This record gives sequence, C-alpha cells and structure tokens, in this order.
Amino acid sequence: MKNLQAIKPIFELSYPGRRGTRLPACDVPEVSISAIPKSLVAEKTPDLPEVTEPDVVRHFVNLSQYNMSVDTHFYPLGSCTMKHNPKRHEKFAKKGGIGDLHPYLPEENIQGMLQMLYEMQSFLAEIAGLPGVSLQPAAGAQGEFAALLTASAYFKAKGEKRTKVLFPNSAHGTNPASAALAGFQCVQLNKSVKGLVDLEELKSLVDEHTAVFMITNPNTLGLFEENIEEIAKIIHDAGGLVYIDGANMNAILGKTRPGDFGGDMMHYNVHKTFTGPHGGGGPGSGPIAVRDFLAPFLPGPIVTKSEKDGQTTYHLSTPEHSIGRVRSFFGNLGILMRGYFYLRTLGPDGVREVSEQAVLNANYIKAKVSKFLPVPHGKHCMHEFVASASELKKRGISAMDVAKRLLDYGFHAPTVYFPLVVPEALMIEPTETESKETMDAFITALETICGEEPAFLKQAPHSTTVSRPDEVSAARTPVTQYCSPCGT
Ligand SMILES: Cc1ncc(COP(=O)(O)O)c(C=O)c1O
Repeated sequence: MKNLQAIKPIFELSYPGRRGTRLPACDVPEVSISAIPKSLVAEKTPDLPEVTEPDVVRHFVNLSQYNMSVDTHFYPLGSCTMKHNPKRHEKFAKKGGIGDLHPYLPEENIQGMLQMLYEMQSFLAEIAGLPGVSLQPAAGAQGEFAALLTASAYFKAKGEKRTKVLFPNSAHGTNPASAALAGFQCVQLNKSVKGLVDLEELKSLVDEHTAVFMITNPNTLGLFEENIEEIAKIIHDAGGLVYIDGANMNAILGKTRPGDFGGDMMHYNVHKTFTGPHGGGGPGSGPIAVRDFLAPFLPGPIVTKSEKDGQTTYHLSTPEHSIGRVRSFFGNLGILMRGYFYLRTLGPDGVREVSEQAVLNANYIKAKVSKFLPVPHGKHCMHEFVASASELKKRGISAMDVAKRLLDYGFHAPTVYFPLVVPEALMIEPTETESKETMDAFITALETICGEEPAFLKQAPHSTTVSRPDEVSAARTPVTQYCSPCGT
C-alpha cells in the first residue's frame, strides 16, 4: 500500500493555465447563451484543478493503490467470497453489443442480450433446483427483500395472514433487516447445537403465524446445516416457507441444491459466487430463485421465450401477479453478464470443481491455523471457517489488532466480529483461486502476529499513514469536501 502522505490532493497539483487537452480554436460563430435561463447560468467558472493528463493519470492510479484489492493482495474476507475476477470477462462485458446497449431498445433489437439473460435464468434455476428466477435484484440484501415481498404476496393471495420471519443467531444482519423492511416481525433463534440450528428451539417457535424461516447454508460458521431437510419439514408442516440465503453458494455449487434440500426461495450473490468485481458498496447482483408456485409473484420483467415456425424469440414479460420492479431495466446487467460468461466458461464440471477447491483451500488453512488459534465450531469446514482470538484476548490482543497487523504483512484482513456467536471472531474464506504458496504465507503471517507484543499490535498497522481511523465517525460524518491547507 502507498504512503498516504506521498500523494497530495489533486487541487494542490494545480498550476494556472495547465491543461490536459487543448481544443482547436473555434472556427464557427460563437452562439450566445442567452437562450439558457439566467438562473441556470453559473456566475463564475468552477474552481477545477488545472493539471496535465499525466498528472491526472498518476494521481488516480496512485490513489487506487491505497486500497487493498483482490488484484493486488490476498483478500480472505469471510462471507464475501473475494475470488479472482477473470479479466477476460471484463473484456466481454464491455463489448459494444453488451456494454453500449441502450436499455430502451425494442425487444427485436436485443434478441442476443435477451437470449443470454434467458440462459442465465436457466443456469441459476438449475444450480438452485428452483425453477422460477428473477434477475432484477441488485444485491443479495435486495434479493432477500424481494423474495420476502414475493412470499408476502403469495400468502396474501392464499388469504393467509402470516407475520413472522425466523432466523438463527448466526444470520447475516441483512436477513432481519430485510424481514423488518418487508413488514414482518423478526424472531431470532438463540440456541445452537455445535453451531447448527437447535431443532427443539425451532419447533417451539414455529406456529401458524410463521411465514418464512431464513437460513444460510452452509451457515456463517462455514458449517453445512446437516438437519436442513428436517428443518424444512418443520417449517413446511406449519405452512411456512424456507428461504436459503445463498451468499455461501461457493461451497456447494453442483454438489447439492437448495431446492433439493428443502428451500423454497433463495438469492444468489452473483458478485461473489460468480466473480463480479465487488467491494466498497457495489456493484452487485442478487437474483432470486423460487419454487413454481411462487414464480407468478416474482419481480419482473423476466425473460421468456416462444417458438414459431422453427424460430425462437425472446421476450421481456411480467409475471402474472408480480410484486413489480425492484430495480430499473433488467437488473445489474454488467455483473449478470460477468456471471454468465463465468458459468459458460466453466460448464457443469468446472462449477463443481470451484466448490471442491474452495472447500479444500479453507480446510487446508483451518487445519494449520487451528494449531495456534482456536476454531470453536466444526471438525471440518465448508468454504470458510471462523477462528477466535479469545485466547489472545487474555494477553490483551483483540481480533481487530490481528486484522490491522495483517495489513503490514500485505494481507487484507479476514472478516472480524461476525458471526456474533463466536467471541473475537476471525472469519477466513480463501476461495478456490488462491495458490498453496499464498495460503502458506498468510498462515505464517498469522502465526507470527499471534506471537507479537500486545503493545506493538495495538499500534498496528505500522506501514500505512492512517493507522486506526475512527470507522464509526468516518461512516456517519464523512468529510467529502476539499479544504485547502490555508483553510479555504
Ligand atoms: C450471509 C450473507 N447474506 C447476505 C449478504 C448480503 O449480500 P449483499 O452484500 O450482496 O447485499 C451477505 C453479504 O456479505 C452475506 O454474507
């Protein structure tokens, strides 16, 4: 990472009269701007930095290097699946017929795009084992919200008033947030058996008011809910629906399917599982897949096809009782296309291999890390695992200290303090795209850090100019305006 002090704000590189591009002298009569209402005309030209093109390029390229990214560093951010984003897919997604397509073009002019979206729907339906797919939602969280509205519309159409959404205490925060936003009452399960759902507790909470049980499988501890079929039966017997949070699909692609183990609805995180470059709040894509009886309520448009005289035509259609749009146009097309190319490139065997390698890598790191950091749950893990810094805490070292110090060693930190059920949690997800050498270097760094002095770790990172920003203030009261050194 770059030393922050070495890069000045671009305004401080400004020199009067410097230009990146010089336009040729005007060779047509100048037109008065009097036609523009006076109230809309700026009184003075904006105060922009006057810089050359190399200044601009260097400034922004250097700025981009401040951050860690999958393109620069190992990024084992648990639950976020920060895998390599194949560059070939970037190139495809930007091709004129894809990247430059106007969303208002009529159907007959975008048959190729509609065909790809139709096929993407089919791939996602097949991987989920759930036939109805909407590509509309723009992130996993929005997928959850859209699926819950879909469930709500389904129960309403059946004349049932179901008010409760249940989820285990290891659930991602977006699960209860989506449920609350969709108008449901949230009920949390607080017990667990070895990190898995406690069936007795579930039975005691499920009743005729239960609309949906939301569960991540594999769960956020990296464990496969082995009683998932029994869990689904309990919910179904009470007339409820099972929602599978598909954020962790990377562990089970082509191995088992949410629809086969009892799920009625799920979302994908295309930006995670299918390599859309993500982070920093976007861009995302969270398609949802549902059982056939829920499909008429899905957000639209969805892509359908018809055959006539041996000719296939693709259409944008709105499901009969659709809850409506949750995003403009067809969803987040750029990310959907990257996911589509990824799936087309890999094929069914390749997709299966992704999960095998992701699980193998996680278990490799887990086996080594558990020698110096406790991993409280599970003998083996799926694609990620959660270690605990609770023993280190007794020496005054927190999970946050370890995470910060990893930056000095050139590694992005794992996810910390999630899930809440593990004290001082460090959630590690290597993904399938990392080599043994990279993982070994990470393990060595982690072990070295565990032996370092608490006082030294408390000051980490030592190699960056900004060491421990106040993250809450930075998020709640961000300073987004430039102030020159003289205070203007
Ligand atoms: C388990 C789980 N569910 C849901 C989400 C929400 O997905 P998104 O960030 O795409 O909204 C995440 C994101 O980290 C997650 O890890």
